[in-house]
Amino acid sequence: MAPRIVILPGDGIGPEITAAALELLDRLGSFELAQHPIGGASIDAHGTALTEGVLGACRGADAVLLAAVGGPKWDAAVAADPSAARPEQGLLGLRKGLGLFANLRPVRPSPALLDASPLKRDRIEGTDLLVVRELTGGIYFGDSGRDGDTAHDDCAYSVGEIERIARVGFRSARTGVTSVDKANVLETSRLWRETVTRIHATEFPGVALDHLLVDNAAMQLVSRPADFDVILTENLFGDILSDEAAMLTGSLGMLPSASIGLGGGCEGGGRPPSTPSGPGLFEPVHGSAPDIAGTGMANPLAMFGSVALMLRHGLGMESAATGVESAIDRALEDGLRTADLGGEATTEDATRAVLANL
Ligand code: NAD
Ligand code: IPM
Ligand code: MN
Repeated sequence: MAPRIVILPGDGIGPEITAAALELLDRLGSFELAQHPIGGASIDAHGTALTEGVLGACRGADAVLLAAVGGPKWDAAVAADPSAARPEQGLLGLRKGLGLFANLRPVRPSPALLDASPLKRDRIEGTDLLVVRELTGGIYFGDSGRDGDTAHDDCAYSVGEIERIARVGFRSARTGVTSVDKANVLETSRLWRETVTRIHATEFPGVALDHLLVDNAAMQLVSRPADFDVILTENLFGDILSDEAAMLTGSLGMLPSASIGLGGGCEGGGRPPSTPSGPGLFEPVHGSAPDIAGTGMANPLAMFGSVALMLRHGLGMESAATGVESAIDRALEDGLRTADLGGEATTEDATRAVLANL
């Protein structure tokens, strides 16, 4: 039976890079595809960023491929009426609704792009790291609100939430885990550090573990990125550090991600999940890039990389996944550069270049 994939194009450049991904999928095999609105597109169509119907369709799929949500149009609606629906609620609702607590963001600069990064080649050469970001807890999902001229966003983590993401981090490690927190200030970080240390001692004593405070980690990430293997961190820190790490690859438009849920562990080496119990969600790290939406200039490579992660982690199609990743590397070696990488190639050009190398 053909794998069933739910496609969620979303907003901004989302539909543009989705069209590119559909061309790629068409070349890779036979899939049963179902497209649905999410984010701003869903707000416009249904008044909510994620309908029960779309969440249900995702639950019933083998994998979900999402491009990006959000944009100034819906930001303006929220500015005018704070109770208005926000596109980002769709993405957060999907992650929570599918139980996707582990977000894997591999950072492996393509050799051809070592000089496209604002960082010096000698710093980034040899970088091959994985950000393991906790995705369904912390400040993103705590109580929040306003009271007069005060606003609050609560950050909470339970031992169980930390244990399960720590295990994903340790199972994903090839050389070691760097756990990132703010234990000098935050109680949640002290619980994080205590729990990660215990899971390490009792279950993964053979994996090297060190701890970094998040401000220091942000600095070390650009000064000695090749020294990191797995960066294990909570939801908000992982969001910020992964955009920073994206620049090691030359552009935010290069970074893919995979989100996996209950039952989805990770083995070492190739870092595939063992048997995820439900569908995984695969999406670029970047957003809807409203500043370039509609220009045809979006870099589709993070989306293609996300297709590769979907093939590997979501559908068990390892050789197809490697094929896509190699085609991306070869196209870049041939000189493919979209505008974000300092070139002039359009989304369409980039798609042709990758397909030609498949
Ligand atoms: P962004 O990631 O959309 O863009 C940041 C910068 O990177 C922009 O200059 C953009 O042009 C550039 N960029 C991003 N992806 C690119 C690509 N594929 N090709 C070329 N250039 C690219 O972040 P932002 O501008 O802060 O956010 C815009 C909207 O996207 C907001 O509404 C935000 O909430 C949303 N967002 C969504 C997701 C998601 O759906 N996963 C992720 C991040 C941000
Ligand atoms: C990401 C995005 C999202 C996040 C937003 C759009 C909710 O920035 O996937 O990195 O903060 O997780
Ligand atoms: Mn982000």
